[in-house]
Amino acid sequence: MEKDFTQLMAQDRDMVEDRLARIFDGEVHYASLQEAMEYSLLAGGKRIRPILTLETCRLCGGEPEAALPFACAVEMIHTYSLIHDDLPAMDNDDLRRGRPTNHVVYGEAAAILAGDALLTAAFEQLTEANLPDEQIVEAVRCLSRAAGSAGMVGGQALDMAGEGHALDREELELLQSLKTGALISAAAELGCIAAGGGTEQRARVRAYAQALGRAFQVRDDMLDVISSPEELGKPVGSDQFNEKSTFVTALGLEGCAALVERLTRQGIEALSGFESPDFHIWLALSLAERTK
Ligand code: IPE
Ligand code: IPE
Ligand code: MG
Ligand code: MG
Ligand code: MG
Repeated sequence: MEKDFTQLMAQDRDMVEDRLARIFDGEVHYASLQEAMEYSLLAGGKRIRPILTLETCRLCGGEPEAALPFACAVEMIHTYSLIHDDLPAMDNDDLRRGRPTNHVVYGEAAAILAGDALLTAAFEQLTEANLPDEQIVEAVRCLSRAAGSAGMVGGQALDMAGEGHALDREELELLQSLKTGALISAAAELGCIAAGGGTEQRARVRAYAQALGRAFQVRDDMLDVISSPEELGKPVGSDQFNEKSTFVTALGLEGCAALVERLTRQGIEALSGFESPDFHIWLALSLAERTK
């Protein structure tokens, strides 16, 4: 079973890579803007969010291909968030996806603009789905809420405001569910929207993905301590250097491992109403143990 799912993921990833590689074809290139955008967008990355979109579309009874523009849109927003997260004004990191960060190669101004343009182009991507207008409008609503001040950007604001002092458990949980959980949840919900899923399916998908997203960030905090730049493709020790409150500072590594396990179980339980949730179960279990 494991092998099948690894293969399925590889197929989904290829589909996403192919589309991402063609998004800016035929656009006039201004200065180094499109080059900087593609530098980060096509630098690999695990593509967990778009894969989640495609497979959640399947889970909800749709064809994964129908959700491909939605999947690419989420990955574009995620990539923009990484470019900005690495800027000197934020985490000031110099390695991402195994390469020098965007601002190190293109300069800060170009990196800010590459992020801006990826964010905007993501919404254009949503409109390119071959789906009824109502589904596209719902996708715009879902992704804009998850990416903006009520979601990822709100979480990044809390993350930056929290530097240098200890956040309590409740503050950390809010920060984590906004900065990482919101976009991962949107990734799954967009799959459900593309499949034409109803309110009940959408709520189950959301409950699964929110737990998955929270576990994902706890694991990310752990990897910043226990992994290596070679394995991760990004620096380790960045959180401590920036005096961030993380789940590791709050709970210790063992406490984090227990929390990841609990959230993973919670996510899997939310899938009980689906006919064939095997891929989603496998995904949650593998992400809980990921090493990069
Ligand atoms: C890193 O996300 C940032 C977080 C929200 C934890 P990923 O671990 O998905 O990074 P890539 O896309 O694989 O580079
Ligand atoms: C950032 O969290 C999450 C985003 C919204 C980009 P981190 O700052 O922990 O992500 P990494 O560790 O740099 O990938
Ligand atoms: Mg950060
Ligand atoms: Mg960071
Ligand atoms: Mg991190």
